[in-house]
Amino acid sequence: MLSHLVYVSNRKPNCTEEEIQKILESCKKNNPALGITGVLLYSGNKFIQLVEGEAKVIMDLYEKIKKDPRHTSPMMISYGPIKEKSFPSWHMGTKNISKNAMEYKTDITSEDKAVFSSILNGKEESGQKVLNLLKKFF
Ligand SMILES: Cc1cc2nc3c(=O)[nH]c(=O)nc-3n(C[C@H](O)[C@H](O)[C@H](O)COP(=O)(O)O)c2cc1C
Repeated sequence: MLSHLVYVSNRKPNCTEEEIQKILESCKKNNPALGITGVLLYSGNKFIQLVEGEAKVIMDLYEKIKKDPRHTSPMMISYGPIKEKSFPSWHMGTKNISKNAMEYKTDITSEDKAVFSSILNGKEESGQKVLNLLKKFF
């Protein structure tokens, strides 16, 4: 069943820009064959990733990503079935988000800000709300 998974984790200091490029190379190499799409947002100390694809495939990938030494404390925010992909043509879109990213966006509502802060705090959130917010970054 087509599903999505969103998690937040702490980007480690050893995870330089160069390491992020390597992560993206892995995404480019592995995700297409797995039917996985999604987005990876990162700031100085956080990652927020959405993966979408078949339920078992994304859960297996999450298990693998969780063990990656370039981040710590992954916390799942949302996981569940979706009718369609939000980023069907992105094998992993990326965006560097500064702390103030939200301040500059005019289409961000106060509810979006609350959802964003829940995500950063590792709290479970409604899939639809998270997906709507992530779409606004791209
Ligand atoms: C935040 C984060 C997100 C990642 N996302 C993916 C991903 O979507 N797909 C993937 O194959 N590897 C991803 N990785 C990398 C995997 O943990 C792993 O290093 C990689 O899949 C190894 O595969 P390779 O040896 O074929 O490159 C991610 C790693 C981190 C730290």
